[in-house]
Amino acid sequence: MSARVIDGTAVAAGVRERVAEGVREFVEARGGDVPGLATVLVGDDPASQVYVASKRRQTEEVGMRSIHHGLGTATPQDELLELIASLNDDETVDGILVQLPLPEQIDQDAVIAAIDPAKDVDGLTAANAGLLAQGRPGLVPCTPRGVLELLRHAGTEIDGAEAVVLGRSILVGRPLAALLLGADATVTVCHSHTRDLTAVCSRADILVAAVGSPRLVGAEMIKPGATVIDVGTNRTDDGLVGDVDFEPASEVADAITPVPGGVGPMTIAMLLANTLQAASERPL
Ligand code: GUN
Repeated sequence: MSARVIDGTAVAAGVRERVAEGVREFVEARGGDVPGLATVLVGDDPASQVYVASKRRQTEEVGMRSIHHGLGTATPQDELLELIASLNDDETVDGILVQLPLPEQIDQDAVIAAIDPAKDVDGLTAANAGLLAQGRPGLVPCTPRGVLELLRHAGTEIDGAEAVVLGRSILVGRPLAALLLGADATVTVCHSHTRDLTAVCSRADILVAAVGSPRLVGAEMIKPGATVIDVGTNRTDDGLVGDVDFEPASEVADAITPVPGGVGPMTIAMLLANTLQAASERPL
């Protein structure tokens, strides 16, 4: 059997089209007011520079305003917190994205806590994470939101499914587990202390790998007919590879995302959707 390959590039293009339409309606309804996304990049990590450049370009392509702040690697934490405070107060800014990881002199938790939850388009503040944990509406982290969109697109039934998430990060694993639970899956989260990873994973109707370990998930960990979503983006000597060993895995799975071209393009598309959501929920 060879699995259906879920085309994240095409699904993301559809999401961007819907956001662009939503932006046109927003601008018309608000008399020319345009949603704005502020990106903040501290330091010169090459991968982060590429990600932020894509975020800025796609923001403008859907008709929103991109506001960018690039800060030096040695920027003190107080200076970053002051910038966030000014973006919180800026009425032309609907969303704030501080690219992670941050340099080591900066406490990531303090930075996230400084972002106004209403502008937290990454869904990382305790307020938004708490709303998600309670199954209430809020701003949801972009990659997990993208994973749910891919599952729906693939026609995978979530209600009642056994879903296994590998990884417990605040950006992906934890919020994704909450979203799957909210969609009535039976959810298990695996991590570095999980005893028998193969036994747990091979129960999964939906298996999502988000651990950053190249080709960790082999065919023996996949239930025949499962949907496999690969969030991994590992730069190796062989180029960009996922957390799933794609070729053998696709002999067992029913549907699978490739790397690149699977989850990756969805993350930015969902950031744009979150920014439009934040702008639409802003009080007039
Ligand atoms: N670094 C890698 N992925 C992300 C993301 O989704 N949001 C932010 N802020 N930083 C990231």
